[in-house]
Amino acid sequence: MQNMFFTKLPIELLAHSMHAGVLAVRLLREVQIPGIREAVFVTAAFLHDLGKAHWPEKFIMAPRYLLSNSEWYTMRAHPLVSADIASELGVCPEAVEIIRQHHERPGGKGYPLGIEPSEAAMWLSAVDVVAAMSEPRAYRKNLPSIDEIRRELAWCPTHIRETVINLVINAKTVKEAI
Ligand SMILES: [Fe+2]
Ligand SMILES: [Fe+2]
Repeated sequence: MQNMFFTKLPIELLAHSMHAGVLAVRLLREVQIPGIREAVFVTAAFLHDLGKAHWPEKFIMAPRYLLSNSEWYTMRAHPLVSADIASELGVCPEAVEIIRQHHERPGGKGYPLGIEPSEAAMWLSAVDVVAAMSEPRAYRKNLPSIDEIRRELAWCPTHIRETVINLVINAKTVKEAI
């Protein structure tokens, strides 16, 4: 699988992966993530959604309300699939763990495991949200405002949320931030 894997990734997924990777690099110019080497974090950012690689393209970036229950069930498993694929590709265990936790939320409110995410996983999650909100989607017209981003990141510890939002503010538009 490894030999063919990257040539088969849908273009939207590659674009999202690169956006998250670029935003991760920009973030690391501003902050140090405790206990995590820069290359580990950027690798996790670039590979975090690999588990969506075999999905139909229209389903990859769809929001919850457009998914059937079975599609939503599949969707919720993608961090585990991403982590397994990254591990098979030889990615280091620290990055694999960040990938596995990138939809977990404080208080066990995320998915798929409902566990407390690591600090690094929450940084990646914030980057992921902003990258996704900056990308064109068939179901929405405009780029989000700072207020909308802040609402989407309401679950985030304040220092993570405000640092990531400042990246966007300093870039003037969400699009320029990635
Ligand atoms: Fe994801
Ligand atoms: Fe993502």
